[in-house]
Amino acid sequence: MNSLAGDHSMVESSRLPGFYKKSIEERLDLISQLVGLDEEEKKLLRNLGNLDEKIADAMIENVIGGMTYPFAIATNFKINGRDRLVAMVIEESSVVAAASNAAKMLREGNGIIAVADKQVMIGQIHIVNVTAPQYKAMKILEHKEEILDHANQQDPVLVKLGGGAQDLEVRVVDTRRGPAIIVHLIVNVLDAMGANAVNTMAESIAPLLEKITGGEVRLRIISNYAVYRIARAWARAPPEAVGGPEVVDKIVDASILAEADPYRAVTHNKGIMNGIIAVALATGQDHRAIEAGAHAYAARTGVYKPLSYWEKDEDGYLVGSLELPLQVGIIGGAVRVHPIARLALKIMEVKTARDLAEIMAAVGLAQNLAAVRALVTEGIQRGHMKLHAKNLAVMAGATGDLIDKVAQKMIEDQRIRFDYAKELVEKLSRGEPL
Ligand code: MEV
Repeated sequence: MNSLAGDHSMVESSRLPGFYKKSIEERLDLISQLVGLDEEEKKLLRNLGNLDEKIADAMIENVIGGMTYPFAIATNFKINGRDRLVAMVIEESSVVAAASNAAKMLREGNGIIAVADKQVMIGQIHIVNVTAPQYKAMKILEHKEEILDHANQQDPVLVKLGGGAQDLEVRVVDTRRGPAIIVHLIVNVLDAMGANAVNTMAESIAPLLEKITGGEVRLRIISNYAVYRIARAWARAPPEAVGGPEVVDKIVDASILAEADPYRAVTHNKGIMNGIIAVALATGQDHRAIEAGAHAYAARTGVYKPLSYWEKDEDGYLVGSLELPLQVGIIGGAVRVHPIARLALKIMEVKTARDLAEIMAAVGLAQNLAAVRALVTEGIQRGHMKLHAKNLAVMAGATGDLIDKVAQKMIEDQRIRFDYAKELVEKLSRGEPL
């Protein structure tokens, strides 16, 4: 196999006319020729895993292969009084184990309660070059029913099911180029993430808004700042479940630091997103939308804050609460086409988008507890290193029981390095003791 650094010169040109029209095979051949991939490398890349060839090729453009991430189940979750198996896809070791571990602690206090808002999204229509913008903003509201009707004609199925465009908000925003009118179309998207439905509606009402205002529409797009689609989760754990009263106090200290310091708040929230995004990936969600919305929400006061809080209640119990926007769907998008996303929903017994949002919020809270608890006790490196050592052992060629043996020895000797893993594997293969 060629090394990643490559032993050939740089690609001559990235101009590949007609590349998009070729088959996966043809594209892969071409790229292989250009960068010198050997047959083994081509075969590896060509493997689409559990994704059908046609689906993969239609999902995005210029496909030449696939890349598989592990799909895991986090255990011990009790959410709203019900046991749930949680599907997670992630590249980072420790996340699944940590979520399962914290879910177990929170079970001891009756599990996690989670409640999500209705699935309401905002579509933005941006109007410029408006004379008398304050007055025209009112004129838009005067035509509210007509505008909503027009939007709803785009999606009669959604309306029939009880969703659709339900309200309008209008603002005049001062911009560098003077005032602009921003119309928010408020749409209940039911079980969809909603981008398609909302964008179609936003585009459809643009000409009407131009007529009413005499201005020109520029952007017509969903806002991923999904402030009407908030999911909340909370839980209460007896001190013994998390390691005793001292640990409770230290977890509260960690939360207080995140409240006071954005540098810590970002990492605190990253820990929450470890869990949420792992579920998002497993269920084929638009995780960029979720991330963007979550971090904007964290900064909604003008200062970046934690999405969760850990406190001690009057009985000395650890109580945690989490709140963030979650724009998730169980119909449309990758959920519709990726068979594994559908399987994930089946494993989690998810029947509605709201249910999925509630599970994700609960997972975020548990993930956060696991991280913060580890940080205020043994630190996260020990757990990480254990898994890292196992990974190195596998990479060095250890199989079966030998993986744990090699990993254990590296930990004992505090030499968790690939060269040492190789040395140990070689020793074992010669039949020598470690
Ligand atoms: C690592 O992926 C996540 C943590 O840094 C989160 C945290 O610090 O709370 C452990």
